[in-house]
Amino acid sequence: MSTYILGIESSCDDTSAAVLKDTVILSNVIANQDIHKTYGGVVPELASRAHQQNIIPVVEVALRKANIQKKQLNAIAFTRGPGLLGSLLVGTSFAKSFALGLNIPIIEVNHLKAHILAHFIEGKDPKKIPEFPFLCLTVSGGHTQIVKVNSPSDMHIIGNTIDDAAGEAFDKTAKIMGLPYPGGPHIDRLAKIGNPEAFHFPEPKIQGLNYSFSGLKTSFLYFVRDHLKENPDFIEDNKANLAASMQHAIIKTLLGKLKRAVRETGIREVAIAGGVSANSGLRNALTELAQKEHWTTHIPEFQFTTDNAAMIAVTGYFKYLNKDFASQNIAPLAKSLF
Ligand code: KG4
Ligand code: ZN
Repeated sequence: MSTYILGIESSCDDTSAAVLKDTVILSNVIANQDIHKTYGGVVPELASRAHQQNIIPVVEVALRKANIQKKQLNAIAFTRGPGLLGSLLVGTSFAKSFALGLNIPIIEVNHLKAHILAHFIEGKDPKKIPEFPFLCLTVSGGHTQIVKVNSPSDMHIIGNTIDDAAGEAFDKTAKIMGLPYPGGPHIDRLAKIGNPEAFHFPEPKIQGLNYSFSGLKTSFLYFVRDHLKENPDFIEDNKANLAASMQHAIIKTLLGKLKRAVRETGIREVAIAGGVSANSGLRNALTELAQKEHWTTHIPEFQFTTDNAAMIAVTGYFKYLNKDFASQNIAPLAKSLF
């Protein structure tokens, strides 16, 4: 018999609901919050208010698109954390009350594990899913990690950022250049027409498999500030080259440690996940590196790179199989344990 899971994601500024039949996606609805563009970043209080307004319509559309009745649902999976507490509270409270009304279990999901398990969402066409164990480079707006994935319920972080995330490095670069929030896609677009070797930004020297992006961000800030003193149009005159050079430095850093992780673990099955995995430069560079190093790579579909509820539902499905349900007393966690 098939299992129908409703997934709810509300950790940051996207309100999303999805329905999966086992691992097959039936719907994945995302309401983006444009309000934050005005402020150049996510305003937590505004995010929670928007989630509150969006959650019921988004769930209704997800059920309608999936063409199922709410009484057919077997469980509701929701993001418990990490994320903005006020935002998480909306999804968590909704999931708890909806499940109570339907008399079905709730399943708590870690947002970062869900980004990784997004690789197991099936569409209409069959696709190649990762084989265990595999390594996943999770690169998002808040996190940068290399994770050894032994099974859906057994994952270990083997590398982590000690300060900023790769997504923050993209977003801050864009902000310095006067580009809108979120900046990653704008840097990506400009980098395609720029020269990655035009300017040199130093690769951070951090021990082991860990990352650091705050020094890179500061060196970009000082570099631009110094050049603006001589040429007030420096950014405008060099937009594409600045974007391409900074993107190149970020990708080189990300893939350098990933290469080391493969060498140290001997695992050649490699995946990327999270918002930054939408970056075309990263996708191309990983594909090229994988061919050279004889790795098998898994690059997510664009719709599953940034935050979405389908990844929450698929993670919920694996936990459902283990009857790993949460109690109605559960509360969200801004900094949840992995
Ligand atoms: O995973 P995600 O949607 O949210 C978090 O869990 O943080 O990631 C959002 C991040 C933002 O920093 C955004 O700028 C970045 O992903 N991003 C990109 C691209 N698309 C989204 N960064 C670089 N290139 C892109 N094409
Ligand atoms: Zn995310």
